[in-house]
Amino acid sequence: MKVVLLGAPGAGKGTQCKNIVARYSLLHLSSGDILRQERAESTELGKKAQSYMDSGALVPDEIIIEMMAKAIEKAPADGFILDGFPRTVNQAVELDKALVAGGQQIDAVLNLEIDDNVVSRRITGRRSCPQCGAVYHIENLKPKTEGICDNDGTELVQRSDDTQEVLSNRLDAYHRQTELLVDYYKKNGTVYDFDADRDPDDVGASIFEKLDALVKM
Ligand code: AP5
Repeated sequence: MKVVLLGAPGAGKGTQCKNIVARYSLLHLSSGDILRQERAESTELGKKAQSYMDSGALVPDEIIIEMMAKAIEKAPADGFILDGFPRTVNQAVELDKALVAGGQQIDAVLNLEIDDNVVSRRITGRRSCPQCGAVYHIENLKPKTEGICDNDGTELVQRSDDTQEVLSNRLDAYHRQTELLVDYYKKNGTVYDFDADRDPDDVGASIFEKLDALVKM
């Protein structure tokens, strides 16, 4: 199964991916995580992406398309979930071309719907583990010990782009460049919309209901 997860910053894409990959044995390919890894390793790609990410703008298509093509090439043929990619119509078109060339297609697009005013508290309260990538929230999803990862005891950090100011730019980029993808994919009839302003387990249950049905087909 090949799945695309769409949604604004803070819609809960990373949170939902954790359970989806476990249930359906999919590879999680997050463009944001790959970019942050490149930055942590100070690669050329990471350096090129830095200023865009810090300001909340999208990294240029040519950089992202090449980066994700490499990641998808290495993915197992039986399935992956794309989180944060594609994010522009151009990226989606290039993804389609690459999949069609390999005799593949996207089976489902999961669209997490959320209002801008809800994501602000989620984003500014998010903390993550730089070691294992686990994601927490200072109110909604607290670690057992404040500021410390439950999995490996590492001190949690706040992402540098999780400020109110950068968030407004990220939301602006989402509305101008990424939201169009819902209509792009609706033309193929593969989009499932989910109200993401609910308990994460309820959102997950709605997603499982749709994906379970697809797996049985
Ligand atoms: P990326 O890392 O993809 O960030 P994003 O899309 O802004 O998404 P987030 O990771 O912020 O949110 P999420 O939806 O995963 O939320 P989460 O589950 O963590 O991209 C970062 C940057 O990289 C971009 O700005 C851009 O510069 C660049 N980039 C990446 N991909 C690109 C591309 N394809 N093209 C160009 N540039 C690209 O949840 C957030 C918080 O809310 C957590 O604390 C969580 O615990 C909490 N939470 C989650 N769900 C719920 C719930 N249901 N109820 C209450 N709290 C919840």
